[in-house]
Amino acid sequence: MVNGDKIDQIIDHKLFTEADIHEMCARLGQQLTEDYAGKKPLVVGALKGAVYFLTDLTRQMDLQEELDFMDVSSYGDGFESTGEVKIITDLAADVTGRDVLIVEDIVDTGLTLKFMKDLLAKRGAKSVKCCVLLNKEERRTTDVEIEYYGSKVGNEFVVGYGMDFMNMYRNLPYIGVLKPEIIASLSEK
Ligand code: XMP
Ligand code: MG
Repeated sequence: MVNGDKIDQIIDHKLFTEADIHEMCARLGQQLTEDYAGKKPLVVGALKGAVYFLTDLTRQMDLQEELDFMDVSSYGDGFESTGEVKIITDLAADVTGRDVLIVEDIVDTGLTLKFMKDLLAKRGAKSVKCCVLLNKEERRTTDVEIEYYGSKVGNEFVVGYGMDFMNMYRNLPYIGVLKPEIIASLSEK
């Protein structure tokens, strides 16, 4: 399942179980259903990390919504934001006059979400809000409003449920913290 490695050799500890994640998706989905009642939001998934969260979240949203995706990256394969945000894959949809909801796996410095929110507002969206699963609040360097989030997390590098380390471990069904020695050994390669 995870590149042939035994998972207890990789994960230091679990932060969120599948049940925890389900509970967060159900709560956020219910809130979004209330807040967007009568609207047809354009849900924009941030590739690739948000894919797992987006599929669970949107199935908890009882709305006429549309989906689109965008790949905006400020990260290389490491841990620290490069500070530079670039569009890898742009939206197909025209956001003019739309209520846009950006769905993201995790907000760290806030650079990526700030860039996306400003860009889509500039393109003429009626409203631009975001829903992130995990909020690394203490790491924020940008003043970007996070309208919806599942849980706060500390300054730990998390993987699973869409989140990766060097493009691995996205398919873990739960969210865990990588063992420091795994990070050290893979970073050297
Ligand atoms: P910024 O700094 O722009 O970064 O808010 C957001 C992006 O950084 C990635 N990120 C992580 N990815 N585990 C990950 O797998 C983490 O702990 C983590 N922290 C930040 C993520 O891609 C997010 O979209
Ligand atoms: Mg991401």
